Amino acid sequence: MKQTNSLISLLKQIQIHSKSLTGDTFAYDNLMNDLKHIHLRLKTNMYAESDYEKRDIFDVPRRTEEFLRYFSGYDEQGEFWASILKPLITTKTKTILDVCPGWAPKIELGLWKLRFKGTTHLVDYNPSSLSSIESYLKMIGSDLKLVNHNDNFFYLKSLPQMDLIVGNHIVDDLLLHEYCEKSQVMITSLYESENAMLKATEEILKLGMIDQKVFADSVSQVIISLMKQNSYIVLSQYKGLFERTHRLTEWSNFVGEIFRHIESNLLKAELNNQIDQAVSDLSDKQKEKLIEKNLIVMQMI
Ligand SMILES: C[S@@+](CC[C@H](N)C(=O)[O-])C[C@H]1O[C@@H](n2cnc3c(N)ncnc32)[C@H](O)[C@@H]1O
Repeated sequence: MKQTNSLISLLKQIQIHSKSLTGDTFAYDNLMNDLKHIHLRLKTNMYAESDYEKRDIFDVPRRTEEFLRYFSGYDEQGEFWASILKPLITTKTKTILDVCPGWAPKIELGLWKLRFKGTTHLVDYNPSSLSSIESYLKMIGSDLKLVNHNDNFFYLKSLPQMDLIVGNHIVDDLLLHEYCEKSQVMITSLYESENAMLKATEEILKLGMIDQKVFADSVSQVIISLMKQNSYIVLSQYKGLFERTHRLTEWSNFVGEIFRHIESNLLKAELNNQIDQAVSDLSDKQKEKLIEKNLIVMQMI
């Protein structure tokens, strides 16, 4: 009741103050934008995980709490990857490839937790990806050996075959990049703006510019070409924060179908399903989380 009253009082205050916005379209647009964000996140039950930038940056306890929640989210991802990869990594595993890692280490955190001593190759088109991952790993005192390949995944130059290939949520990344190439859009603009990202997902669905089967075939071909005998491939797919916040069901289904095409291509290429081996070390909590994820774990025999 007390909370409701303070909410009502705050809304009244906004109403009073909004009069002062008359004539200032810039401030008005900002207010509408902020309220729209709050409304959307409340509606989709994502408010506890919204970003602190939109709030009072001087609220130290709240900022710290949100930072810690944010980091513990990454740590959870690292823990998940460590548990999945642990049964697959042996003393013979010398090379691991992370496809499209982006700016934050997830798989790398898992490999650090496992004290992996071999070489971790990263394929990411964006040159800032490696430096961002490196500085995070340096901060936590990791000695993971990283080699960056600043190439397009579909046109790789001189990459050796690997003992293990891993990709966290990569179908969306590759699709969006393909869209940017076809539409002459800067990929960074998508990752900097929710509206630009929404437009991209809508256009990919509506304009039919990407054939799911053809796309899945290209991804599968590159993966197979990079696999040594006895090597593993591990790919995860799940509804990310952006998809959940905006309830992009059609988009999630579209991406999910491509993921299934890739799985079926790899099985047709006679890779062996090893999912049982990979999930053997998961905690009960991680197994629960696995329900929301699709996972491919296969071995090239
Ligand atoms: C959102 S970020 C990383 C997401 C990451 N997979 C994750 O789950 O957190 C997407 C990254 O994929 C990279 N990327 C997309 N398509 C690519 C391609 N064809 N070749 C190489 N990198 C690509 C982009 O440069 C970007 O850094």
